[in-house]
Amino acid sequence: MSNAPRRVTILDLAAAKRDHRPLSMITAYDWPTAKLVDGAGVDCILVGDSVAMVVAGRDSTIPATLDQMIYHGEIVARASAHAMVVVDLPFPYQHLGVRSAIEACARILKETGCQGVKLEGTAGQADVIAGIAAAGIPVMGHVGLRPQAVHQLGGYRMQRDGDRLMADARAAADAGAFAVVLECVPQEIARTISAALEIPTFGIGAGPHCDGQVLVFHDLVGLSLERVPKFVRSYADTKTTIAEALGRWRRDVESRDFPGPAETRG
Ligand code: KIV
Repeated sequence: MSNAPRRVTILDLAAAKRDHRPLSMITAYDWPTAKLVDGAGVDCILVGDSVAMVVAGRDSTIPATLDQMIYHGEIVARASAHAMVVVDLPFPYQHLGVRSAIEACARILKETGCQGVKLEGTAGQADVIAGIAAAGIPVMGHVGLRPQAVHQLGGYRMQRDGDRLMADARAAADAGAFAVVLECVPQEIARTISAALEIPTFGIGAGPHCDGQVLVFHDLVGLSLERVPKFVRSYADTKTTIAEALGRWRRDVESRDFPGPAETRG
């Protein structure tokens, strides 16, 4: 029998919900971050379209392309062994009809080796979720603040319409999503939705009552160069550590301290 670690599946996520075991998901986009996140033992790795912002420096997730998501998804799926890898469907495939969405998700699944896709949407995208799930592709919903719709929502702001949020999350679950992200949702609304749905909820800026939590890697380790949202807890100050290391190296080069005998061959 193989000693390779078994990957988390949607059945494990469903069991965690039944057993009230909190779930964890962190984003990753490249080989070293995927290895580190996977090694931390989280349940899921999200190859988020946030890559457009935190890696490529764009001011929204909208510019992320299908080819870019596949490029990053393939690296992360190959680098990881334990976590379920979920790749974001970039804008606007979930709005182009069921067939286009299935085609895009199938490319993601086939070309990356990931185990699921995530798409942002309201109850209006329930038919798309149903089509993707019927094609045998595990699909995660994403309701509340939908960053791909930032301009329509009037900015990155809390979403407070409880009935609407419940309808969107319920529609995703009924259509066959295996989990749903609740982004920037008041904690009491997130609590009500999480209690009502049979599938796990992953909260980001949605308080402590979700079935799981998700954060962007760069925010969590203090590597984001832009202002981080208030709901983030940074567990390290990686940005400062790297800046200090780079500065020390430059000074060592300028003083001819680097390379020294230890770094010199011959
Ligand atoms: O793209 C992303 O990183 C996301 C998370 C913020 C949930 O969708």
